[in-house]
Amino acid sequence: MKRKNHIFFFRHLDSTNIQAKKLAEKGAANGTLVWALNQSMGRGRLGKKWASVSGKGLYLSFIIRPEIDFGEYAKITLVAGVATARFLKQELDDAKGKLALKWPNDLLIDGRKIAGILTEATAPTKTQKAAIIIGIGVNISYEKDDFPKELCTQATSLLLETEKKRALQPLVRSIQKNIQSAVADFEAGHFPQLLNEWRSMDYLYGKEIDCVGLDGKIISGKALGPDNTGVLFIEDRYGNRHEILSGDLRLAGKTLAEKGQEL
Ligand code: BTN
Repeated sequence: MKRKNHIFFFRHLDSTNIQAKKLAEKGAANGTLVWALNQSMGRGRLGKKWASVSGKGLYLSFIIRPEIDFGEYAKITLVAGVATARFLKQELDDAKGKLALKWPNDLLIDGRKIAGILTEATAPTKTQKAAIIIGIGVNISYEKDDFPKELCTQATSLLLETEKKRALQPLVRSIQKNIQSAVADFEAGHFPQLLNEWRSMDYLYGKEIDCVGLDGKIISGKALGPDNTGVLFIEDRYGNRHEILSGDLRLAGKTLAEKGQEL
């Protein structure tokens, strides 16, 4: 599909995803990007908040209108994860082995979260197909004290990893290029290759995990990674396989205090 490179820049927004949804509903073109220096209501997955610190992170939402069926939408988060991982690798000198993806939407360095993805869709109308909003938050210049207290041991930033200060604008261009290229590959039918790349960075693969469902039910077992449709599978101790469509995933055996937090 034809793509535009429009960037809507804001000093302050409630949430770039909310703004991107509004623009998409008004017909914003495929490829439009919403960028804010700060957000007062940054949204995370499963109704969580995404704490935003002015000028210290990337708060971005891409509007895409891919030629795909509704059933394929879940794969977009994984595609965006690969694109964000490629972007981070370009910024980290020694990312190999340290950078990982945690299904479905987290990017971690040495187990600490550096970025998260929140994919949402607009409702289709009589005249317009649904648009997909890929919201990405990346911790760029966060210092330890910038994170909420309960997250400071579990989160990191490019500054903390590399001790290098960065201007935001070139980073926005770089992540935009990576998203455009990965989405184009996806539309061209290369999801299997993108999924292989995703799997090569799978943080949970083979680990014992707990998945807390939206109803509070916990499924425990070994993570088998996402299948060809992007859905995660867990094998419990009786050998039963569980399909995970959503939920909060934590490594098994963590303390209760740790389990109450993001990872
Ligand atoms: C998560 O890890 O739960 C997903 C976090 C996604 C945060 C980004 S910041 C830019 C965009 N706007 C939002 O309100 N959320 C996403």
